[in-house]
Amino acid sequence: MSSTLIRGGTVVNAEGAVRADVLVRDGVVAALGTDPSWTADRVLDATGMLVIPGGIDAHTHLEYPIDGFTTRTADDFHSGTVAAAHGGTTTVLDFVKKEPDRTLRDTYLARRDTAAAKAVIDFGLHAIVPPRAQQPDVLDDLRRLAKEGATSWKFFMAYPGTQMVDDGELLEGFELALENGVLPMVHAENGHMIDRETRLLLESGRTAEPFHAVAHGHDSEAEAVHRAVVLAESVGTPLYVVHVSSAEAAAEISRARAQGHRVWGETCPQYLAVAFEDYQGLGERAAAYLCSPPIRERANQQGLWTFLATGALSTVATDHAGFCLHQPDDLPPQKLRSPGYFPKVPNGVPGIEDRLMVLWETGVAAGRIDPCRFVDLVATRPAKLFGLFPRKGAVVVGADADLVVWDPAADHVITAAGSHMRTDYNLYEGLRVTGKPVHVLSRGDHLVDAEGTFTGTAGRGAFLSRGKPHLF
Ligand code: URP
Ligand code: ZN
Ligand code: ZN
Ligand code: ZN
Repeated sequence: MSSTLIRGGTVVNAEGAVRADVLVRDGVVAALGTDPSWTADRVLDATGMLVIPGGIDAHTHLEYPIDGFTTRTADDFHSGTVAAAHGGTTTVLDFVKKEPDRTLRDTYLARRDTAAAKAVIDFGLHAIVPPRAQQPDVLDDLRRLAKEGATSWKFFMAYPGTQMVDDGELLEGFELALENGVLPMVHAENGHMIDRETRLLLESGRTAEPFHAVAHGHDSEAEAVHRAVVLAESVGTPLYVVHVSSAEAAAEISRARAQGHRVWGETCPQYLAVAFEDYQGLGERAAAYLCSPPIRERANQQGLWTFLATGALSTVATDHAGFCLHQPDDLPPQKLRSPGYFPKVPNGVPGIEDRLMVLWETGVAAGRIDPCRFVDLVATRPAKLFGLFPRKGAVVVGADADLVVWDPAADHVITAAGSHMRTDYNLYEGLRVTGKPVHVLSRGDHLVDAEGTFTGTAGRGAFLSRGKPHLF
């Protein structure tokens, strides 16, 4: 296999930064330091640049079925992972939603094969635990899945009638997770509160797209986070709360952590860099911004930053669930299929390619977090929590050479036209960023170079059978 020497850069890990060259051989980091005698097939000049671990996006929805499996998100495992790589992400963790005619485990195995044929970067899969009525023996499947690399399971506290599990199912699932060394994840919104608010809004004619955010109030999110934390604590299991959008919800996590509970919160770039005020007046185009939990008012952002800097929010993932405004030929109508009527808008926003650049710009460049915290949020903490550390998530000898040479002084404008995601809009259109990936390596393969030339082939991405969570 080939070798690469990344010379002259500053290696940034979560624990600290140091001037060092990185020698890559046989797909792993072979040495760190400065030795003039090191030679390699290829030398990359990283003078003035940072060398960081490849990003790990712990929350993506590629070719993800919605609406009773009648449509799916716009990016598949090929386009989505190509876009991720261009943005400096070298691992994605996606989800398995049980198909109606298959068991959860059969769906998992089929999805693993589908993804393995298309992915250009490494990937793992979280299992979504369906309501028991959909598969009475699902606990048997979950036990097997834990041994087959799915060491994280997601529970929905929203979407009654399709995905929502009740408190009894949560308790039973948390118990099983604890017994099997699995990290439970919750989509924490109170589905009944949202359904009631939605009914009241529709009855009074308030059906326009921005009312989605009114239906999904702060209180429904904070209530569900509080309940999930209390239930997890009663069982004694650690807990991961996905896509925390509300500062009130983050405060629940912060309080629990202060009491010694092992709870981690994830937030997403759309909650940090976009606000309700940005789409409130857009008419039906507000559909482009609809996701659950919703993108909230600007005043909420400061609280999220405080919790990101202090720890209650421990990861930044995208929840990439892109839908088009104007349809490509191969998919049914998506974001604009029912203008003026928010309940029919598919939930989810794109961002798999933008995550690092947006967090760098709004976090590091804005002076809210430092580069080490940035690396922790986008790579190291997700690697630890999802059983990939230290193979992934740090620039250390022996780790996979998933590396990004990062220019901290770039000048780049994010646009849909300049992106590789299949969605026909970019949530961050026009955002000028001062940090961006210049070279992206996955297990030593040079996927993206300084000119943006992409060399990864479909199917080179490997399935990651993940180990137990690393909870410190
Ligand atoms: O609106 C969202 N977040 N869509 C993706 C599915 C989910 O609940 O994470
Ligand atoms: Zn969710
Ligand atoms: Zn999601
Ligand atoms: Zn390169």
